[in-house]
Amino acid sequence: MTLVVAHRGASARAPENTMEAFRLGVEAGADAIELDIHVSADGQLAVIHDPTLDRTTDRTTTVADAPMAEIQAADAGWAFPGPNGDYPYRGRGLTVPTLPEVVDWLPAGIGLALEIKAPEAADGVVAALAGSGVRTAGLVTVMSFQEAAIQRVRELAPDLPTGLLLVPGDIFERGLTWAVEHGHAAVLPFEVDLGYDPAPNIQLATAYGCRVGCYVVNEPERMQQLAAAGAWGFVTDVSELARAALGPRPE
Ligand code: G3P
Ligand code: CA
Repeated sequence: MTLVVAHRGASARAPENTMEAFRLGVEAGADAIELDIHVSADGQLAVIHDPTLDRTTDRTTTVADAPMAEIQAADAGWAFPGPNGDYPYRGRGLTVPTLPEVVDWLPAGIGLALEIKAPEAADGVVAALAGSGVRTAGLVTVMSFQEAAIQRVRELAPDLPTGLLLVPGDIFERGLTWAVEHGHAAVLPFEVDLGYDPAPNIQLATAYGCRVGCYVVNEPERMQQLAAAGAWGFVTDVSELARAALGPRPE
């Protein structure tokens, strides 16, 4: 079964990386949610894509320079545009979540694709996942574009699946080779880099016991092609379209 992974939650329908986006992603039928992690000045794990609050909130602050209380005082619904030139999530109390908040909320059976943006988050991520339902169920993958981050996770928790994200244009076989040599469970390229026909690359990775996920897939035909080729999963902004393309989640 190819996993539908809600990219930053249902990020086409609600402000990215908020509890509302995660809730809507699950409601739309995603098998897992994807989120991004930075570290606040007081060492907490902030669920946010950028190193600053500037693009997504009403504040201009660097995450690493602000305590979590200050980050959570920002309106995380501020910048999300509505269909009529409005901002329907402003003032509705959306905040930048912490990783423990998301992990505590995550419904049973829903997976987590956790991207470490700041390598110094690795120790805290492993600690936050320890004993959690999602980890016990084997439904977490920790991934990063930064090799050091997933190397540290493997050092701390060799049984926690990890994956290497490849930047657009990176050579798939290079990433696959590095991931396999270092014991990572997955390689996660930009979807275009899997090729017009993704099957040969996916078969190659499968032969090495490595899963292939990719980002960001919003076209139903490409979703079906990836599923037919045996992709482990793909990240999407439109989980409801993915569900319609792939069929309902198995019971
Ligand atoms: O799942 C990987 C994908 O999220 C990487 O890109 O920029 O959305 O974090 P980005
Ligand atoms: Ca991400």
